[in-house]
Amino acid sequence: MTNIILCGGSGTRLWPLSRTLMPKQFVKLFEGESLFQKTVSRNQKACDSQFIVSNAEQYFLAVDQIEELNINTSRYLLEPVGRNTAPAIALACFALNAEEIVLVTPSDHLIKNEQAYLEAIEKAKILAQSDNLVTFGITPQYPETGFGYIEANGESVLSFKEKPNALTAQAYLDAGNYYWNSGMFCFKAGVFLEELKQDSPEIYEASLSAFNNAKKDEMIRITYEDMLAIPEDSIDYAVMEKSSKVKVIPSDIAWSDLGSFESLDEEIASSDNIINIGSTNNLVLSPKQVATIDVDDLIIIDTADALLVSKKGSSQKVKEVVKSLKEQN
Ligand code: GDD
Ligand code: MG
Repeated sequence: MTNIILCGGSGTRLWPLSRTLMPKQFVKLFEGESLFQKTVSRNQKACDSQFIVSNAEQYFLAVDQIEELNINTSRYLLEPVGRNTAPAIALACFALNAEEIVLVTPSDHLIKNEQAYLEAIEKAKILAQSDNLVTFGITPQYPETGFGYIEANGESVLSFKEKPNALTAQAYLDAGNYYWNSGMFCFKAGVFLEELKQDSPEIYEASLSAFNNAKKDEMIRITYEDMLAIPEDSIDYAVMEKSSKVKVIPSDIAWSDLGSFESLDEEIASSDNIINIGSTNNLVLSPKQVATIDVDDLIIIDTADALLVSKKGSSQKVKEVVKSLKEQN
């Protein structure tokens, strides 16, 4: 089984920890290890090689971090510009044997129950063998509108809805037979491509010609013009909402997509160079000596050239910061 690792996103919700040239998956947040490295190591227990689909700008980051793990089974496909996950996955699948089972994973999620995760992958592999598109379902905790929802009856999927509005998300929670889509998938490369061809033929055709035109040496490089010609869409909208071959493995794997500072706060501790005088419940990350006095419930993220101070619960507004920075530049 090949692990297709998606690392094209820039993770703007964790600015200034996550930057265009240093997205969150490459930041060494966990005792000197990045989420990308943790992903590769975890999936290596179930897969025999990696297929890394990344923005060309991040190629050297990925190569360096893979080298640190002493792994030499990785292939690379470089996108000059991202067109979201449907094209990224299609381009990798075109490079593989149609019968090859792939495990598609993001590179920026945390999975704490590795045993349960590996068991879920074993089950997914069996369903993928009989030509299904397998998703991993997470029991929803609250009506998140940034996730996909899977309506399930056992392993059968009745419907897939990407990013519902708040009312719909709440109705799904109340119904009780919905999972969050974890954003990981398992299928045969050829089965995915057939479904894409049927459900989103423009993406299929443009991705195929981009792949055929690509320079293929030690890595596969798609040209800028070919990449731009591919319609932008995620696998969730382009295939999962439309296909009748979707299955789900309920996965109790202690999963987090670390999509905000609030969720990061649940998983990591503040730096150890912080003096708190009368302060409680702050998340402080800084390479410097920091002191806080009589302040509570703050997120303080200090990097070499940017500092974020936010009230806990408000950090989704980081999006607005990033937007106004882009307008200035
Ligand atoms: N190579 C490449 N190229 N990777 C990409 C691109 C691209 O153009 N766009 C996104 N990615 C990577 C991101 O870095 C991330 O690891 C993964 O693909 C998913 O993309 P996101 O942009 O983070 O998707 P999302 O969070 O909105 O939604 C997906 O994940 C949710 C769970 O975290 C969906 O699958 C949802 O259904 C799911 O609930
Ligand atoms: Mg995401």
